[in-house]
Amino acid sequence: MDKYLIRGGRPLQGQIEISGAKNAAVAIIPAVLMVDGVCRLENIPQISDVDMLLTILEELGARVRRVDATTVEIDCTHVHFADAPYELMRKIRASYYFIGSMLGRFGTAKTTMPGGCNFGVRPIDQHVKGMTAMGATVEIKDGFVYADTPDGRLRGAKVYLDKVSVGATMNIIIAASMARGRTIIENAAREPHIVDLANFLNSMGADVRGAGTDTVKIYGVDRLHGGTYTIIPDQIEAGTYMAACAAAGGELRLKNVIPRHLECISAKLREMGVTVVDGEDSVLVRSNGRLRRVNVKTQPYPGFPTDMQPQVSTALCLANGTSVITEGVYDNRYKYMKELRKMGANVVVDGCTAIIEGVDALRGARVAACDLRAGAAMVIAGLCAQGVTEIVDIHYIERGYEDFVGKLRGAGADITLVRDEQDAVAVAAAE
Ligand code: UD1
Repeated sequence: MDKYLIRGGRPLQGQIEISGAKNAAVAIIPAVLMVDGVCRLENIPQISDVDMLLTILEELGARVRRVDATTVEIDCTHVHFADAPYELMRKIRASYYFIGSMLGRFGTAKTTMPGGCNFGVRPIDQHVKGMTAMGATVEIKDGFVYADTPDGRLRGAKVYLDKVSVGATMNIIIAASMARGRTIIENAAREPHIVDLANFLNSMGADVRGAGTDTVKIYGVDRLHGGTYTIIPDQIEAGTYMAACAAAGGELRLKNVIPRHLECISAKLREMGVTVVDGEDSVLVRSNGRLRRVNVKTQPYPGFPTDMQPQVSTALCLANGTSVITEGVYDNRYKYMKELRKMGANVVVDGCTAIIEGVDALRGARVAACDLRAGAAMVIAGLCAQGVTEIVDIHYIERGYEDFVGKLRGAGADITLVRDEQDAVAVAAAE
């Protein structure tokens, strides 16, 4: 089994270049299915979720050409409705965006129920509500999602989301871009990747207005044309390194970021006693010693992101005093706490609340990445811990962090990726 080995106790120093945003890329790539012409996407993150989505497009008949590590050209002009590679779709949460893009392009869709990280029940009822309001019949049966329209095209509609959902907001925007007439989404999510998706679609000829507010209006068009689009930097990747520096100590400059998107994270870190200085397209993070305890409540953007909860909670395991974490988005996102306890963390979980009593030190242990962000949290714990930490199930981490090990090593961390065959040798060397 592949794993990371970390020898903790080294502060982070230097600079790290932030990659393109995962959650923007994983919506934009499925949306390219609707584009008639060549679409050139720049600043694509090199992560396994992106690779899987590009493979799905290829299997559907798209021509995909890697121009360089972060640029890809996709031509979906001659794609026909076909059975998608369901085994791949099942593995990835963002495959739900194919419901929207297939409906937009073909007026009919068949996908699997989405996979991805498991933090409790993750229904897609709000996606279905949107597609149904736009005239589709949607049936979920035996793990598949079947959607169809009576005359091959969705029609604009008014959709009020019962729950602020990033995925449903983006899926409805995608589908509505090629619907007949105007769609209005009320109580829409406002994350930066929603604005990025709208900007991408608009640059290909769509008419999406109000993205980034809670009311989004989409005027359907007949055709989307090719073009070039650059994906925004990843807010959560940047936040993860900020939390790592706060926890492990040191001084890091994160380059290629949009500081405004990080404000919800920067504000919390400042409250924890960390110095965060915004630059034009960079942020500087400087640790000032032991962290101060804080309370954290996760909420939809611009609130504190649920995708940063495990990383900041891990940092707080070493803070001075008791912190209270309230998970306001998911009902089961604390599974990783039992791994942190193996490292000496003092945490009590009660439903959506976690109470963290700061300890003086964590100690290295063998722990698992329970999901993508929990895996990043384990890495942060390992960077701070005394001794060697071994992290297994790292495939979760590789879904969403480009070259995690390389970037951390560049900033002075003692972390090694051990591929299966090298196992024995590397473990021996670390012990
Ligand atoms: C996306 C992100 C994920 C992030 C989350 C919240 C992707 C691929 N994933 O996930 O990293 O943690 O946003 O920022 O972009 N819900 C429903 N019905 C629905 C949809 C959602 O009840 O139809 C609930 C969910 O169970 C959850 C909450 O709404 O409790 C928010 O989910 P949502 O914003 O939709 O998250 P995802 O799109 O799955």
